[in-house]
Amino acid sequence: RDGQVMADELLDWYDRHARVMPWRVGPRDRASGIAPDPYAVWLSEVMLQQTTVAAVRDYFTRFLALWPSVHDLAAAEDARVMGEWAGLGYYARARNLLKCARVVSGELDGVFPDTLEGLMALPGIGPYTAAAIAAIAFGRPETVVDGNVERVMARLFAITDPMPGSKPALREAAATLTPNLRPGDYAQAVMDLGATICTPKSPACGICPWRDDCAGRAEGIAAELPRREAKKPK
Ligand code: ADE
Repeated sequence: RDGQVMADELLDWYDRHARVMPWRVGPRDRASGIAPDPYAVWLSEVMLQQTTVAAVRDYFTRFLALWPSVHDLAAAEDARVMGEWAGLGYYARARNLLKCARVVSGELDGVFPDTLEGLMALPGIGPYTAAAIAAIAFGRPETVVDGNVERVMARLFAITDPMPGSKPALREAAATLTPNLRPGDYAQAVMDLGATICTPKSPACGICPWRDDCAGRAEGIAAELPRREAKKPK
């Protein structure tokens, strides 16, 4: 099936079933093409790097209430920010968060870069986070690939080669589907699909918006994918 048609199918599903999260714009704003604040997107994506949605939710809301703009965060005392971060773990993220806020506030007039290259030049922003911010905050058709996305793509295209060797093929598969319109919603739709329907065990294929497109389902092997290379003895 045509990639654009598949992206549209998933976006239709997302419009009806998107999980509500404090860093996402609501259905009305999505329909009006209103983009979320890049500062809020950046803050949420840094918090989500090694932490679950459930754990991040209240921290994100509290940070945004305490420091509503990147200038506010840049002006905060280090100890205060580290204190508010306590419990989220991976404290290097909080140090880089402050460094990044100070660069954006002090050197970039408070404006986040809107390209992968510009974003990746900032402290604490790697390829994944840069792609997520570029797609979600700036509408750039960047492909966001995490473990959920890899699982969805392995199943959709019945990619049976084991991980991690299949990672480039999974990324390529994901890239062919990324739409030019609403790439940020699309990226978050794939995440939601992986979290709620295309789950690691017992995927709910019967209610999947891609059920008729899924090669893994057609072959009856969806739940077994992605395969993993057997651990090599040392
Ligand atoms: N994990 C990383 N970024 C996310 C997002 N924007 N929504 C849901 N889960 C995520």
